[in-house]
Amino acid sequence: MALKKKTVSATTLNANDQDRLGAIERAKHEWEGTADALPALVCLLNDKGLIVRINRVVEHWHLGTVGGVIGRESHALLHPNCHDPQCELARGLRRAQSKVQRGKPNEFEFYDSLSEQNWHLNFRPIGSGENLPLAVRDRRFVLVVADVSALRRTQIALQRLNSSLESRVQLRTRALADSNRDLRNEVARRERAELELRASHNDLALLSEQLIQAQERERRRIALELHDSVGQSLSAVKYTLERAVILMQRPALGSAEPVLALAVQRLYETAESIRAISMNLRPQMLDDLGAASAIAWFCREFSEVYPAITIHVDVSAENTEIPERIAIHVFRSVQELLNNVAKHSKAKNAWVRLWRDGVTLSLDVHDDGVGMDQSATTPNFLHGTGLRNIRERAEMTGGQFAYSSIAEKGTSSQIQWQMAIDEN
Ligand SMILES: Nc1ncnc2c1ncn2[C@@H]1O[C@H](COP(=O)(O)OP(=O)(O)OP(=O)(O)O)[C@@H](O)[C@H]1O
Ligand SMILES: [Mg+2]
Ligand SMILES: [Zn+2]
Repeated sequence: MALKKKTVSATTLNANDQDRLGAIERAKHEWEGTADALPALVCLLNDKGLIVRINRVVEHWHLGTVGGVIGRESHALLHPNCHDPQCELARGLRRAQSKVQRGKPNEFEFYDSLSEQNWHLNFRPIGSGENLPLAVRDRRFVLVVADVSALRRTQIALQRLNSSLESRVQLRTRALADSNRDLRNEVARRERAELELRASHNDLALLSEQLIQAQERERRRIALELHDSVGQSLSAVKYTLERAVILMQRPALGSAEPVLALAVQRLYETAESIRAISMNLRPQMLDDLGAASAIAWFCREFSEVYPAITIHVDVSAENTEIPERIAIHVFRSVQELLNNVAKHSKAKNAWVRLWRDGVTLSLDVHDDGVGMDQSATTPNFLHGTGLRNIRERAEMTGGQFAYSSIAEKGTSSQIQWQMAIDEN
């Protein structure tokens, strides 16, 4: 630190004084050396805020020479060519200076856009004058200016790193949450699919059990019918023919002719019974000709067995337009719906329509019978097997079954199957 040297005449001092002065001089040099070794700009300012002493850092920072800046104000030192009346640094320095001169140490930081440096400015009072009245206070102070640019740059870089790290963590967390959610959805979807599969397995098992039961019932019914109607009719025919033989052997007992006529009548009835039974079995025609022809045939047979009901048949679908996988189901549905008409409706007319429109095959069966009370619809629906079987057959083959019945108006059923484009 450069000192304003006071020239003291050696002749006026005794030896002791000279020793003391020497020691003081040495201490000053040591302190100067220490101050010069600091990385910060250190200056001592007088009560008017003018630089009295300054360390060599002023030269490293290219602000001037140690001797050249003595007597300058701090703003003129740090902002050599600044004439800005609004200069923020000048204002900061004035504020800090007035505080420190009232004995209050203080500090602030300033970013200098010209030199692109961050300065930390620290103001320290020289004496402990804080408690003294203003007039007698030592108003000198030390200003230490440290270049904290590197520190700030590091802090900013650190902040940036932190926030980029944070956003990366956030991104990763979000990605993880997303894949977690996807995974959970997938698990749920699979569970659902499994449940549905199990349910449809159960449905299928139930359906096949019902089909077997229905088959058994059908066989029992045929056996019963063969026994009761055909068997008895044939017994009656046999008896009638035997009587005719006796009458022919002994004409005195009467004419055989009416008895034979009766036998013919009974045989006719028996043939009708056989026809009714066979009609309800799987017709060979289904395999030979196809579903459309088989259904047309069934309707014809049906109207012969039930002459009281006029059947209006409109089968416009071609045999080739009804895929083999659903042929039997279409046929059985017509069978069941017409049997229901005969069993329950007391209808005069029934309409059967089967048509194909693009990929849709539709069946419509309705009658003008007694229909059903709406309140009775549900329980009856549950009790009967026929309609439930139709619904299951439809669902099993990708079709949809709709049923409606109005008391005294009639009953109407529709089934629609959607075919695959290449299905015919
Ligand atoms: N065309 C119809 N007219 C009036 N009622 C009907 C008609 N079709 C069905 N029903 C009513 O709906 C009920 C259920 O029919 P469904 O075919 O399921 O059973 P079912 O014919 O009684 O017995 P199953 O068909 O098992 O021999 C019938 O009992 C009947 O009361
Ligand atoms: Mg039925
Ligand atoms: Zn300035």
